[in-house]
Parts: sequence; structure tokens; C-alpha cells
Amino acid sequence: MTGLLPGFFLPRLPLGAPTNQRVLPMNRQPVSESWSKGCALLGVRHAILGGAMSWLSERNLVAAISNAGGFGVLAGGGMPVDLLRQEIHATRAATRQPFGVNLITMHPDLPELVRMVVEEQVGHCILAGGVPEQETVTALKDGGVKVIVFAPSLALGQRLIRRGADALIIEGHEAGGHVGPVSTGVLVQEILHHVESVPVFVAGGIANGAMVAAMVAMGAAGCQVGTRFVCATECIAHANFKQAFIRAQSRDAVVTAQFDPILPVIPVRALSNKGTALFNQKQWQLIEEVRSGRQERKEAQLELERFWVGALRRAAIEGDVEYGSVMAGQSVGLVKSIQPAQEIIDELVSQL
Ligand SMILES: Cc1cc2nc3c(=O)[nH]c(=O)nc-3n(C[C@H](O)[C@H](O)[C@H](O)COP(=O)(O)O)c2cc1C
Repeated sequence: MTGLLPGFFLPRLPLGAPTNQRVLPMNRQPVSESWSKGCALLGVRHAILGGAMSWLSERNLVAAISNAGGFGVLAGGGMPVDLLRQEIHATRAATRQPFGVNLITMHPDLPELVRMVVEEQVGHCILAGGVPEQETVTALKDGGVKVIVFAPSLALGQRLIRRGADALIIEGHEAGGHVGPVSTGVLVQEILHHVESVPVFVAGGIANGAMVAAMVAMGAAGCQVGTRFVCATECIAHANFKQAFIRAQSRDAVVTAQFDPILPVIPVRALSNKGTALFNQKQWQLIEEVRSGRQERKEAQLELERFWVGALRRAAIEGDVEYGSVMAGQSVGLVKSIQPAQEIIDELVSQL
């Protein structure tokens, strides 16, 4: 695949649910009820979403996850329209099961991408990278596409539901790639326990059956998993990338720092390596350029994001895990071997 833009940007917006809200008990409904709602919404046997991963969530991995009873998601957000259309066709050729497409809301061609997703009658669109406009949600829904969105806070989640979202994803700081500031456990208490009108899927640091069962027991409609699927046999990640995952400890997956508020940086979680050092150098260089007025802040931010796209490709596809970006969540410490997607899904749902 070519032409991918960075994956996932969470908006930097005020967080925090009101503290005087009624907290539902952990067993607010039979375990199977929230899970059943998740399965029904996705149209699958197991409400496990394979979180979109730039460069990696293409036809092979997506079809493998869907064929295994989960819900694969194409990382389409940064692709040109025609390339994403081709990838949808190729995925359909490899699976008859439902799968979704992930789009990034700030993509300059978002309206065309949305039109194409509707034309292609994709069942589900996962909107990442900020709060989607009403017109985006409406265009998808009018076209018969179910809309799933990331909710970084309860207030935003509720606003998104009012805009027509069919389901929410809450993703904690433990996750791989671009991350928000709040941990999965806190988001569960802030958001999951307060939303009843639509299914809520939980992501970030989930890598085994016990954790999936615990999330479902707390009312999750299912889980979105990224890191664990990198080492699926069917994932096209370079062998070096997969081996780096198998060797890594959870503490090796660290978040980038922001050095100066003049250049706001969306944190990225990746295995610490020389690529991280290159990112830091790049950040200092761009801070200097913004400070001196040689570069606009927005341009500099875009340049940093382009750095990640290239760096992820360098590691994930070309296998340069020393200088490329090995984006991984903390659950990388739980990834011990390369396994078929079917085995991973079976393990994830084994304790429900
Ligand atoms: C290598 C990598 C690339 C990712 N790229 C994207 C992306 O392009 N779009 C997106 O919405 N999320 C992206 N993510 C986040 C995943 O979709 C998923 O939400 C996350 O991995 C879940 O947390 P986990 O890593 O703890 O399993 C990426 C994650 C990883 C590890």
C-alpha cells in the first residue's frame, strides 16, 4: 500500500465525566447482553475488532480476522480514494464476512472517501482522528453505513451519539500508535459506565481472554485490539517487526514527549529505539523553526506527522526496527509468538 497518512489522532479536549452521575453496577446486565449487542451491531460471532493499523490492516489481516469470526477494519484513513476502493474489493474477494473501514476525519479528501464508502456499500465506518462533523455522520448514515466513533470523554461521546453514532470506542493510553492521555481503566469508569444507549467497545492494553471477559463483565459490547494482531501469521508486518514485538517487554512501549507547547505533539506509543531519538531531534529542529518564524505551527505539526507515516513504514514493512517506528501498545509484553488470527481470536473469547 502507498499513500497512507498517519493513523490516529485524538482531539485534545477537556476530559472528565461529571462526578455526580449514577454509576451503574459492574453487573448492570447479564454479561452476554452487552456482548450480544456488540455482535449484533457488527454482524459477527465475536465482537472483537481488529483495530486499524496503518500499513498493516490491509486485505490479508482484515480478511483473516473477519474469517475467524471477529471484525477486521481496513486502515483506510490516509489512502487515496481509488486505492482504498481497490483494497475493499480485494478484502471482499478474501472474505464474505463483515469488515469495516477506518477513516481519519481530518483527511483533506474525507467527503470523497465517505462517498466511496457509501457507493461500495461498506457496512461500517470507524471515524478516528477527531470529532466528526454532523455532515460526515449524516452522509454515512443516509447511505446505510453504520458509524462507530472514538469518544475521548463522556461529554463528547454523548454529543457523538446525538449526532447519530451507532457505537463508541473508548481507547486508553496503554494502546499503540497515537494515544490519548487517559488510561483504559479510568475511561471505563468515566464513559462506559454512563452510556447505555449505544454499544461501547473498549480498546487499549487488551490482549487476552481474561481481560476481554473482564471488560464485557463491566458492560463493554466488545473489545478493539491492535498490538496483539501484529503477530498474526496473516499480518504482512516484516519478520523483524514481529520479532521486535515478541522480544519486547511492556515497559519498552513508551510515549513520545512534547518539548515545547509552541509545537503541540500528539503522543505516539512505540518501542523505544534510535527512531524515537530521530523523532526527538526532528521535534527540536521544528520547534526552532516555529520559534524563529521560519515555519508555521500547522505546517510543522504536519511535517512531524509525516515523519511517523514514513517511520512506521520503514519498520513495519521494510523491517528497519532500529531507525523506523515500532508502534506498539503496552500489551506488547503479552505477545509471545506468531499465531494464526483464528487462534488469537479463539484465545480472546475463551473466557466469556
Ligand atoms: C502499529 C499500529 C498502528 C496503528 N495505526 C492506527 C491507525 O492507522 N488508525 C487508528 O485509528 N488506530 C491505529 N492504531 C490503534 C489501533 O487501531 C488500536 O486502537 C490499538 O492498537 C488498540 O490498543 P492495543 O494496541 O493496546 O491493542 C494503531 C496501532 C498500532 C499498534
